[in-house]
Amino acid sequence: MCGIFGYVGKSAEPDFIIKNLKKIDYRGYDSAGLSVINYGQIKTVKSVGRVDKLTQKVGDLKPSLTGIGHTRWATHGEPSDINSHPHLSSNSKIAIVHNGIIENYKKLKSDLIKKGYQFVSQTDSEVIANLVASYYKENDFIEAVKKAVADLEGSYAVAVINQDQPEQIVAFASQSPLILGLADDFKLLSSDVISIVKYTDQVHYMNENELAVLTKDKVEIVDIKTNQTIDYKVDKLTQTAEAAELGQFADFTSKEIYSEPAVIKTILDQYQEGDDLNLAFSKNFNKIVISACGTAYHAGLIGKHYLENVANIPVSVELASEFNYKKVFIDDQTLFIAISQSGETRDTLNAMLKAKQIGAECLALVNVIGSQIARKADYVVYTLAGTEVGVASTKAYLSQTLSLLLIAQKLAGKSPVKDVSKLPDQIKQVLRTEDQVKKLASQIAKQNVVFFTGRGVDLNTADEAALKLKELSYINTFAIGSGELKHGTIALIDQKTTAIAILTQPNIVEKTLSNLKEINARDGKIIIVTNLDHDFSDLTSDVIKIPKVDPYLAPILSIIPLQLLAYHTAKLLDRDVDKPRNLAKAVTVE
Ligand code: F6R
Repeated sequence: MCGIFGYVGKSAEPDFIIKNLKKIDYRGYDSAGLSVINYGQIKTVKSVGRVDKLTQKVGDLKPSLTGIGHTRWATHGEPSDINSHPHLSSNSKIAIVHNGIIENYKKLKSDLIKKGYQFVSQTDSEVIANLVASYYKENDFIEAVKKAVADLEGSYAVAVINQDQPEQIVAFASQSPLILGLADDFKLLSSDVISIVKYTDQVHYMNENELAVLTKDKVEIVDIKTNQTIDYKVDKLTQTAEAAELGQFADFTSKEIYSEPAVIKTILDQYQEGDDLNLAFSKNFNKIVISACGTAYHAGLIGKHYLENVANIPVSVELASEFNYKKVFIDDQTLFIAISQSGETRDTLNAMLKAKQIGAECLALVNVIGSQIARKADYVVYTLAGTEVGVASTKAYLSQTLSLLLIAQKLAGKSPVKDVSKLPDQIKQVLRTEDQVKKLASQIAKQNVVFFTGRGVDLNTADEAALKLKELSYINTFAIGSGELKHGTIALIDQKTTAIAILTQPNIVEKTLSNLKEINARDGKIIIVTNLDHDFSDLTSDVIKIPKVDPYLAPILSIIPLQLLAYHTAKLLDRDVDKPRNLAKAVTVE
């Protein structure tokens, strides 16, 4: 849940590292640091807080042939200057940055302490620097790094610099993403292509057991186990640098909400008209298990509705963090679908590996191209949302939901849903509710608790809307099935309560309306998001109207005003919408 970046070439200013670290600070943003080599010595600056803080600290650091940087989401040790990366060996000759967790660090640390190495931080990562240093005493540097890697257990993407060899970076990765950027006269490494794409479209995604030595002119990769040089694969990036720029927008979250019409159009062009889903399953499945976390899990709940009703296959949706530690009912007739924007979420990856081991065929529904979950699945459908920088997922959720509908249609061999191609224009129409939503946000911003309610897929939308408002505004929210209210939650309702109801499914609208009347009778305030023609005037005048669509498409539209509501409420409360406190975009720890 951290980001690492590295440069080796003719010369880079510390600002170059800072600028590119900022592009990946969505991965963690409680502290940051960088190391360069100036006049044959490693110079390091670190700071608790955002990457920007480094700018004030780089002071008189000079440009360098090599530089590494890190942006942190604390796991071992509080966010502090000391615990920030890079970490140095005791003799200050070796510096490392690390994304991941070294599970056996305590044992390694105590062995190294016995050998006289000193530690200054509470992190697991510092052990890597001293481990390399200890092997470097009796081996050449590359050999020392290889030996150190062999001792590590856990997950890691690591870049190492050595002041004795100031023109190279050594890098390796296991279960954490690491991408090498192969520009002509310099080389880069990063946790995300977003900080590479501006400089080159030639990349290599690091694999397990690879050790890369980056110099200005070339990258050599050896297999750590066999010592053989690897003729590694070079991929061409299709992303553009634009994803990392704000353009006319104040923040990435609003930019990403406003890109939803384009995202949906891309998916339809690619998968509906081009029928390019590429899902040639070798057999028929008798059940589907979906597993994911957070927002992706909510998309999975809507996917269940699609797959069961359109493709007529029973589906269970499991929180990946629970799935990994319970008895599961999976066999070789099961299709397992892992949903993940980042393609990195540890719990989701582990759930998929567990399902695969038991014999299920695994389909990854992933946004980030070349990510781990995508690479380890039997089949991949990329959700084509483009880079999502805002930590709270918005456009990726829409892309997951629509992709699941298209997969359901593919499995069913039919397309019962009408007018899918109108979605991009209908989303634009929904975005025009923004002024109305903004006014409602000023009411919501005063609440201590807000709850969302609905039935069927509208309840799934309520779950996602509650998460969005909670994580962006820090207001306490929850979602409850409308029919479930009177089994306890109704006790909360008084004139200070606001309920936001989603009503898009004609078959159950009357039942939900009865439940809303129960809230109304107890003086609770109600806001309704709907595409139905009912008269709601006896309940509320706060009705957000979205276009009338096929009920299957309604969840793709009804979440949008609620994303906007979360966004505007957060802005009114002066929250950092792109980087809510305590969160990180890629959750690579369990
Ligand atoms: C919420 C949010 C998270 C992610 C979750 C899974 O807005 O973004 O709940 O959905 O951490 O992440 P991915 O989809 O990358 O597996």
